[in-house]
Amino acid sequence: MDAALEAEIQQKHTAETILAMRRWTDKLISFRLTRPAAYRFAAGQFARLGLPLEQGGQVWRAYSMCSAEHDDFLDFYSIVVPEGQFSSRLARLQPGGQVMLDKRAMGFFQADRLPDGRDLWLLATGTGIAPYLSILQQPEVWRRFERIALVHCVRETAELSFQDEIAALRDHPLWHEHGHKLQYLPVATRDAPAGMLGQRIPALLDNGELAARAGMAMTPEHSRFMLCGNPKMVEDTHRQLMKMGYRMTRQNAPGHIVLENGW
Ligand SMILES: Cc1cc2nc3c(=O)[nH]c(=O)nc-3n(C[C@H](O)[C@H](O)[C@H](O)COP(=O)(O)OP(=O)(O)OC[C@H]3O[C@@H](n4cnc5c(N)ncnc54)[C@H](O)[C@@H]3O)c2cc1C
Ligand SMILES: NC(=O)c1ccc[n+]([C@@H]2O[C@H](COP(=O)([O-])OP(=O)(O)OC[C@H]3O[C@@H](n4cnc5c(N)ncnc54)[C@H](OP(=O)(O)O)[C@@H]3O)[C@@H](O)[C@H]2O)c1
Repeated sequence: MDAALEAEIQQKHTAETILAMRRWTDKLISFRLTRPAAYRFAAGQFARLGLPLEQGGQVWRAYSMCSAEHDDFLDFYSIVVPEGQFSSRLARLQPGGQVMLDKRAMGFFQADRLPDGRDLWLLATGTGIAPYLSILQQPEVWRRFERIALVHCVRETAELSFQDEIAALRDHPLWHEHGHKLQYLPVATRDAPAGMLGQRIPALLDNGELAARAGMAMTPEHSRFMLCGNPKMVEDTHRQLMKMGYRMTRQNAPGHIVLENGW
């Protein structure tokens, strides 16, 4: 084998090009990378992305895929932490710039780990919405559940990204007969206008407001939950759900909850 080709195959990562970048706020950006033909992932998994450091070496971070398993590009949604090693550098890049991609996708945050049920609750804070955007582009999830509630909780309404994309999901030709199943429930904890939910997710579960707003009563028989975002939110929501009689899904022990910490 040609030595250069062999060296490339043995590399653990590839260099991908930024095709597009969207700046939602000064702290939130989404970006699209080229996708190597051999890159495989399951909706809900994350990639490891790398950038070179000026002083030498690289910084690598986990990023959930937002795009569909079948897309020929990879979409991501990122916080910009001003002092963050990765995201502050990412924010300075433009289309045409390069990002390293670990060849292996990772993680077990997948809807198919949940046993069948009637209702699927997708609970996110901040960039924790990213894996759901991919999961909701899998025809199977639309067929499996009768009702799906996507709850996106942010500090301020300006951070409720992807509203048009979420609305468009309902009309996708691959699952449009199921499109009515999706409810989008935005939550802003610091500047909710009248009529919008305004408390943290664990409080909204505890006081029944989330179930009431969705018109989806929660019961262990029918309700399944995915949790992603701020690790404290994941912890507090998990604790609240346990109080309500739900438990984690584990290997060989199906439950009601799967979760992923957003950092
Ligand atoms: C499984 C997994 C999936 C992830 N998916 C995403 C994703 O899809 N999008 C994304 O932006 N980040 C995601 N992250 C976080 C990501 O890996 C980085 O931490 C983040 O991009 C910031 O990197 P940084 O080097 O700039 O700052 P870091 O040094 O990594 O973080 C500095 C601080 O910023 C805060 N922070 C980090 N990430 C976030 C975040 N996403 N939202 C709010 N505050 C944060 C935390 O307080 C953290 O201590 C994921 C992390 C894990 C473990
Ligand atoms: N977004 C901003 O305007 C802003 C401004 C300054 C700095 N930052 C920095 O940026 C980082 C990310 O900010 P972010 O707003 O994207 O993420 P975040 O702090 O995780 O907040 C996102 C949402 O999660 C909620 N939340 C936080 N802790 C929770 C818990 N234990 N249980 C349930 N819900 C919880 C928040 O509610 P609450 O509103 O009640 O906290 C908010 O609605 C922060 O770490 C912060 O240092 C952000």
